[in-house]
Amino acid sequence: MAIASAPGRVCLLGEHAVVYGEPALTCAIGLRTRAEARPAPRTRVHNPMAPDSPYLREVLRWFHTRCPDQGVHLRVASALPAASGLASSASVTLAALGALNHEFLLGLSPRGLAAIGHQVERRVQGRASPMDTLTAALGGALLHPGGRRLPIPRVGLVVGETHVARSTGRMVDRVARLRGRHTPTASHLLSSIGDLSRRGETALRRGDLPTLGRLMDLDHQMLTALGVSHPRLDTLVEAARGAGALGAKLTGAGGGGCMVALAPEPQGVARAIRRAGGTPILTRPDSAGIRQETKMGGGREDES
Ligand code: MEV
Repeated sequence: MAIASAPGRVCLLGEHAVVYGEPALTCAIGLRTRAEARPAPRTRVHNPMAPDSPYLREVLRWFHTRCPDQGVHLRVASALPAASGLASSASVTLAALGALNHEFLLGLSPRGLAAIGHQVERRVQGRASPMDTLTAALGGALLHPGGRRLPIPRVGLVVGETHVARSTGRMVDRVARLRGRHTPTASHLLSSIGDLSRRGETALRRGDLPTLGRLMDLDHQMLTALGVSHPRLDTLVEAARGAGALGAKLTGAGGGGCMVALAPEPQGVARAIRRAGGTPILTRPDSAGIRQETKMGGGREDES
């Protein structure tokens, strides 16, 4: 029996633009998915949060092409809210792939697992960049495309859940449609978001958190102009800024889901998010990507 875990992530800068080849910055967080794989007479999945997860179906399809006659019992538990901009699907996919890799001695590297995870995401949700699966595999702060390592920001992160459901595929399609109808304007917005990521890379390398925060604020405005924010996201972002966050923005595909704030004093920001009607989650950047575990546990490592 083998147990592996993989983190969720926040997107500090550059989501959506990364789909069109622009740079983006992600950071793994201390909320993880754990998966246990053990040989079994017939294959079955135990995943209380999503009993019929299409991501796990695809993972098992891949596994059975590698090991056609091998049954497996896969048990999955995630501390990440599903479909909310924290890349829970990449985290679930990579934790499951990691457990299968260890249990059945498949010999894949973290980058190899990330590449398989990316294929899984593409099959399930259509167009998808490799950034979420790379972050779940490698951990830490990464520059995309490519996943070059950057220093992790030494600061608290407060995630605010809107509880507005949305789908990544639909939001990516929405941007693609906007780009089809208003090509020069949308392309300009996407390349401006790419510029913010380039400046964010410099800020991260210098440990300049106030500049990173201002870039996140600007990015939220540009994502709003692209049509992927939501009034509840805007409310939580404003509340976080008003409570002293260095910067705040939606994270992931938008349209609902979560926002993230860079928060030197996370408790005050968390209170403001709650007062504004959101559910705050206090977390921190996490340098660990996919890793072996000894027990299933809760997957939530840094709640304060
Ligand atoms: C979704 O997690 C992030 C997007 O940029 C899509 C992608 O990169 O695949 C919106």
